[in-house]
Amino acid sequence: MPINSKIVVLTTCFVAGAATAKDRDESYHADFVFGAPAESTEAWEVTRGGRLYDNWYATQDMDKPEDTHPAWPASNVKKSGGVTTRCKSCHGWDYRGADGKYGSGSYQTGIAGVMGYSGDATALEALLRAEPHGYSEDMIPKDHAQYISTFLAKGLDDMNTVINFDTGEVAGNIQNGAAVFQTTCASCHGFDGRALDWGDADEPGYVGTEANANPWEVLHKIRNGHPGVEMIALRAFDLQVGVDVLAFTRTLPVK
Ligand code: HEC
Ligand code: HEC
Repeated sequence: MPINSKIVVLTTCFVAGAATAKDRDESYHADFVFGAPAESTEAWEVTRGGRLYDNWYATQDMDKPEDTHPAWPASNVKKSGGVTTRCKSCHGWDYRGADGKYGSGSYQTGIAGVMGYSGDATALEALLRAEPHGYSEDMIPKDHAQYISTFLAKGLDDMNTVINFDTGEVAGNIQNGAAVFQTTCASCHGFDGRALDWGDADEPGYVGTEANANPWEVLHKIRNGHPGVEMIALRAFDLQVGVDVLAFTRTLPVK
C-alpha cells in the first residue's frame, strides 16, 4: 500500500477519538502498547508507570470506571466519574498536587503531590490498596503497581525548572525541538501537529493546542507516551530533548 493511503487510513481511525490500538485490531501495535519486553529496561518501566499514573484504565485497555473516587472532595463539583480515579487528577501533571498547577482550577482538590515520595514497591502497593486509595488487584495488579513505583522513584521530572509556573513559558531550544519533532512526532501528528485531532469541530485538539493550554501535561506525555495508543516516549533521552520538543510544539497552530 502506498504510504499516503496508509496515513489516510490511520487518520480516519483516530478522528473518532478514544479508539485504542486494540480497537483498531492492529496486533503489531498491541504488543508495544499493552505488552511488555521480555527483559524490560528501567526506562521502559518508568514510561509504563508514567502512563498508568496518567490513566491506569486506558493503559491496561480497561473500561473507564463509572463511579467518582471516594477520596475526591465534595467541594469539587466540576469533575466526577472515572476521571477522578486517575492518579494525575489528584496529584497533578507536575506531580505537586495542591502545591502545583492543580492548586487552582477545575482539578483543585487540596490533595498533596507525590514529588519526593520515597516508598519502595511494597510500600506503594500497600498504599494503593488501602484507604484513601482503594485500588484492587483487578484495577492495578501487582506488576503494574511496581511500574508505578519505578516511575515515582525515577521518573518525576522537576517541571518547575523547565516550565515557568505562572506563564507556561518553556526553557527549550525551538530549533532543536523542531528537528526532533519533524523526524519523530510528525510521523503520526503531521509536520504541523494537526494530523490527529482529539477535540471536536468547534474546539480542535492538536499538539499545538495542548502544548499551549497545558505544557505540563504535554511534557508528561512526551516523556512517557500516551495511554492506550502507540505513541512513542522520549524517556531514554535527556530531559532537555523533551523540553526542546515541548518548546517547539508551542509554536504549532492551535486551531
Ligand atoms: C481521588 C484522589 C486520589 C487519587 C485518584 C489518587 N490519590 Fe494518591 N493520595 C490521595 C490522598 C488524599 C493522599 C494523602 C495525602 C493528602 O492527604 O494530601 C494521597 C497520597 C499519595 C501518596 C503519598 C503518600 C506519602 O506518604 O507521601 C502517593 C505516593 C500516592 N498518593 C500515589 C498515588 C497513585 C500512584 C495514584 C494512582 C494509581 C493515586 N495516588 C491516586 C488521593 C488520591
Ligand atoms: C506512532 C504514532 C505517534 C507518535 C510517533 C507520536 N504520537 Fe502523540 N499521539 C499519538 C496518538 C495515537 C495519540 C492519541 C490521539 C487521540 O487521542 O486521538 C497521541 C496523543 C498525543 C498528545 C495528546 C493527547 C491528549 O489527549 O492530550 C500529545 C500532546 C502528543 N501526542 C504529542 C506527541 C509528541 C510531542 C510526539 C513526539 C515526541 C508524539 N506525540 C509522537 C500517536 C503518536
